[in-house]
Amino acid sequence: MDQELLSSAAAVLKQNDRGSYTVLAGDLYPHQWLWDSCFIAIGLRHLDIERAKTELESLKRGQWSNGMLPDMIFGSKRASLDGLLWDSAISPFAPEHVTTSGITDPPMLAEAVMSVGQKLKLPERRTWYKQMLPTIIHFHQWLYRERDVRHEGLITIIHPYESGMDNSPPWIEELKDHGIPIWVKAAEKLKLGRLIKHVRRDTRHTPANQRMSNVEALAFWSALRHLQHKAYDSKKILSKPRLDLQDLAFNCILIRANACLKDIAKTAGVDLPKELLGDIKRGEEALEQLWDEPSGQYYSRSFASGELVMQPSISTFLTLYAGTIPKERAEKLVGLLSKRGAYKSIWPVPSVPANSEYFDPERYWQGPVWVNMNWLIIQGLRRYGFDKEADVLRDRTLELVAKSGYHEYFNPLDGTGLGAKNFSWTAALAIDLLKT
Ligand code: GLC
Repeated sequence: MDQELLSSAAAVLKQNDRGSYTVLAGDLYPHQWLWDSCFIAIGLRHLDIERAKTELESLKRGQWSNGMLPDMIFGSKRASLDGLLWDSAISPFAPEHVTTSGITDPPMLAEAVMSVGQKLKLPERRTWYKQMLPTIIHFHQWLYRERDVRHEGLITIIHPYESGMDNSPPWIEELKDHGIPIWVKAAEKLKLGRLIKHVRRDTRHTPANQRMSNVEALAFWSALRHLQHKAYDSKKILSKPRLDLQDLAFNCILIRANACLKDIAKTAGVDLPKELLGDIKRGEEALEQLWDEPSGQYYSRSFASGELVMQPSISTFLTLYAGTIPKERAEKLVGLLSKRGAYKSIWPVPSVPANSEYFDPERYWQGPVWVNMNWLIIQGLRRYGFDKEADVLRDRTLELVAKSGYHEYFNPLDGTGLGAKNFSWTAALAIDLLKT
């Protein structure tokens, strides 16, 4: 099975290759996305190390002068339409020669750069790290400067898209708390669903029940317009908090990224700025503020209210990936991972537990299995010495893609493939799971 999987996964990446970057899945996602490219490079490094480097280097062209790495860089003929919608040029920090979105994405870059580096001999590794270090440092400094305005050690994200887990329950709860715009409710009441369907690109490609609802999609769009009115200026946006979360998964990924950054800097023989080292330390300590003892889980926290958003989601397991939580808590989480009626599933790991009011096995980030989440959890399990559990999850993940193909996400109850077909990160991470 391994050889067959390897060549079919490589074929998907080849088909989606656009020279210096990889699109995610042809028509539905024709641009370059930040964390997608990172996962893609982690797989590509086993096939073609130079191409993996190019994938990551191509992200540099989108970096804003304040350090932000945008979640999307537009590269196709549709670029003009998407670029117009985002209108990120209203920010003085947006790059001149390329059109991008105005928000960021989970900071997977340091992990990807390090993974590629591990495949290189020491002298080339050093050169590679020196090449990428300024981009990563600038990005992490921006995160702490602009998104940790209260110096709590936790980054706040200003739109669900920045979490990469768009409609996961904590975000929908936050949306309900901070108001769904009246016009969105009216559109739903007037049953404008069919009309909206024509405006939404995603539901033209995929059945509507597998995507976010119209209310969610319109409310998110309206939230984007709000960011645009503020010229994507984080400080202005956070001075009057609305839909903003100290997102658990994002912060876990950043904690791990900081550890990778330290490693990269050490190998390259570069000293990291003192202030950044202080931020990194504060970040590791602050994660424990998101723990809830009675339920034995970690949660995201609302920036506006300072309260934990007590809606369980797969993000709780990303604290294993962060690698800084106490061993006893890691053990509790591993117990939860195999708990019947919650996360135990024929095809693990569901993005939302079966006993959640939100659980829907087919709907996007509200139940389906995502291969990038499984990959992150596998790394986390290994970090805490749960190798047996990591091996089981790895094998089931590979069986799932062998059975159903390289879909964007999968039904955790019967393994059916959902969303886009021939999805790049599913293929890339399958390669990495086969090779490591
Ligand atoms: C969706 C996903 C996000 C991903 C993007 C491109 O928006 O929620 O995580 O980066 O698609 O694949």
